[in-house]
Amino acid sequence: MELKLLFPFLMLHVIHDVHSSSSQWTVSVPKRISVLQGSCVVIPCLYNYPKPKSKKILTRWKGFWMNGKKVVSTNVPKWKLIKEYKKRTQFLGNIQARNCTMLLDSVGRNDAGPFHFRIEMPQYKSYSYTTTPVTINVTRIPQPPTLSVEMNEKVTASCSVSHSCPTIPPQFSWSHRGIVNRQSKRLNTWQWQTVSTLTFPYRPSDFNKPLNCTVLYRGGKQVTSSMILRM
Ligand SMILES: *[C@@H]1O[C@H](CO)[C@@H](O)[C@H](O)[C@H]1NC(C)=O
Ligand SMILES: *[C@@H]1O[C@H](CO)[C@@H](O)[C@H](O)[C@H]1NC(C)=O
Ligand SMILES: *[C@@H]1O[C@H](CO)[C@@H](O)[C@H](O)[C@H]1NC(C)=O
Repeated sequence: MELKLLFPFLMLHVIHDVHSSSSQWTVSVPKRISVLQGSCVVIPCLYNYPKPKSKKILTRWKGFWMNGKKVVSTNVPKWKLIKEYKKRTQFLGNIQARNCTMLLDSVGRNDAGPFHFRIEMPQYKSYSYTTTPVTINVTRIPQPPTLSVEMNEKVTASCSVSHSCPTIPPQFSWSHRGIVNRQSKRLNTWQWQTVSTLTFPYRPSDFNKPLNCTVLYRGGKQVTSSMILRM
């Protein structure tokens, strides 16, 4: 009889412990992100807060991305952003699901940050996560794509770049006709890799000729990698 009573108590205790350790004022964001000037960045963000002691049900969350005292982006509809950020930012996250992911487009030299997230729950509390900021390393020179080629009876060429903006990935163009495929994958919390693959039947006239892959990044910067086709 006693055991039966003890068991549910232990279970509850364990569950409570797990919950309290995850329910703090914490935010999970990358510390530093490299972004090509003119291009865009999706800043992944998940936030957490201590569970309210009362059983009050929260229904309203106002999220703000801040640069010092300036509001960069918010989930609040019709909020008047200052000119510096107007039409350049988008609150992508689902605030209710503790997702505060933000998009910043047309990244300029003045966009290094630091940026931090702030949550306002009018039925509970507000908090600025200033101790966990995000800084942006704005780079000026686009990274050339990595180009590799395999030749059998067909030529299969792969052209790969990493970037910070899955919403508007780079565009690829090839100097040779063929079948083109594009795929993206996540490399880490903020960095993505997009690969374009070109396939065409091998002809002797292609021998010793360059094959070029040009990458056009969001914002207009482009860079080409070139390779000579050899058997
Ligand atoms: C957060 O929101 C972004 C944008 O909608 C989404 O891509 C991402 O998968 C979400 N993250 C989680 C953990 O749900
Ligand atoms: C900024 O990014 C560039 C390119 O990714 C990298 O070479 C450089 O080390 C970074 N600088 C800092 C301070 O993180
Ligand atoms: C390919 O790239 C090389 C070297 O950058 C350049 O000289 C050549 O004109 C390019 N060819 C094509 C067809 O774009």
